[in-house]
Amino acid sequence: MIILTGAAGFIGFHTAKSLLDQGFIVAAIDNLNDYYDVSLKLARLEQLELYDNFTFEKIDIADQDAMRRFTAQHAQATHIVHLAAQAGVRHSFDDPYSYGQSNLVGHLNVLEMARHLPKLAHLVYASSSSVYGANTKQPFSIEDTVNEPVSLYAATKRSCELLTQSYAHLYNIPSTGLRFFTVYGPWGRPDMAYFSFTRNITEGKPITVFNHGDMQRDFTWIDDCVAGIISAMNTPPASGDAYCFGDAPHRVFNLGHNSPEDLMEFISVIENALGTTAEKKKEQMAPGDVEKTYADIDATTQILGYKPLTSIREGIPKFVAWYKDYYKV
Ligand SMILES: NC(=O)c1ccc[n+]([C@@H]2O[C@H](COP(=O)([O-])OP(=O)(O)OC[C@H]3O[C@@H](n4cnc5c(N)ncnc54)[C@H](O)[C@@H]3O)[C@@H](O)[C@H]2O)c1
Repeated sequence: MIILTGAAGFIGFHTAKSLLDQGFIVAAIDNLNDYYDVSLKLARLEQLELYDNFTFEKIDIADQDAMRRFTAQHAQATHIVHLAAQAGVRHSFDDPYSYGQSNLVGHLNVLEMARHLPKLAHLVYASSSSVYGANTKQPFSIEDTVNEPVSLYAATKRSCELLTQSYAHLYNIPSTGLRFFTVYGPWGRPDMAYFSFTRNITEGKPITVFNHGDMQRDFTWIDDCVAGIISAMNTPPASGDAYCFGDAPHRVFNLGHNSPEDLMEFISVIENALGTTAEKKKEQMAPGDVEKTYADIDATTQILGYKPLTSIREGIPKFVAWYKDYYKV
C-alpha cells in the first residue's frame, strides 16, 4: 500500500493514476485548499475515484491528530509519496503562514508518519529546483551548496530536505527528495505561466512577461516527472549508497529536462499551438524569481535510469489540446 499526499494536485493526480494503472493500492490525502480552482482538484479526484484500488480522505497534513489517526489506520503502508505542499513562489508574499503550515508543520507530520509506519520501505517527497536560489553555477547539481534561497517557498522546500535528513539519520528511514524543475502538462496548475499564458491568450488578454523575457526554464513534461517519481519509489537508498548525505539513507535528485528553454521561445510554442499571437506586457524581474533553471540530471540518470523524453515542442501542443477540450474553448 502506498500513501500519497497531494493526490488532488497536478503531480499527485498523475502519479496516483500511474500507480493505480500498475495495480498498486493507493491511500490518498489532500486538504483540497482553494489556492487555485477547487473544481479542477475535484475533477482530478473524480478520475481517481474510478479505480477500486484508490481511497481518499480529506485531511490537512498540518493536522497532527488527523495524521496520527490516518497513520494508525494504514499500518500496512510500505511507501509514502509526499507531494502535498503550498506551492508557488509569488503567493508566499501574500500568505507566508500557509507555507509554514503545509511545508514545515505538514512535512514534519509526514516524517512522524514515516517514523511510525512499521513496514515503511521508502519515503519519497517533493522538493524543488527553487532550492538552488541565488546559485549562479549552471547546470544546477545536487552536489552544489544550497544555502541561498530567494523566496520563502524555496526556504521551506530546503527545510523539508533538512528535516528529512535528521529523521533519516535518527530513525534510519530510507528517503528520497526530488527537486522538480517547472513541471507542466494536462490537468496542470492554473497559477503556472504556461497555464495562465494559454488562458489569457484564448481570452484575448495580454500576458505578463517578466524580466522583459530574458529568462530560461528547464521544463519537465509531466509523464517524464511521474516516471522519475516511480523509479525513485522503487530505488530506496541504504546508508552508504552513492549520493547519500553522511550516514543517513537519504539523497536528493534533480528531476528536470536538462535543456533550458528561452521564455520567448516557450511563448512562441504556445502561440503556435493556439494559432494566434499574444499581446505581451514586459515587466521587470519579479521578486523571488530566478533568471535561469537548468538541471544536471547525471545522478538521476545513473541511479534511477531517468531519461526525459518530451520537449516543449511536443508537450505544449498536448497541454493546449487538453486545455481546449477541458475548458471547451
Ligand atoms: N509543478 C511544479 O513545477 C513543481 C516544481 C517544483 C516543486 N513542486 C512540488 O511538487 C509538489 C506537487 O506540486 P503540484 O504542482 O502538483 O502542486 P499542486 O498545488 O497542484 O498540488 C499540491 C496539492 O497539495 C494539496 N495540499 C496543499 N497543502 C496541503 C495540506 N496542508 N494538507 C493536505 N494537502 C495539501 C493541495 O490541495 C494540492 O492538491 C509540491 O510539493 C510542489 O511544491 C512542483
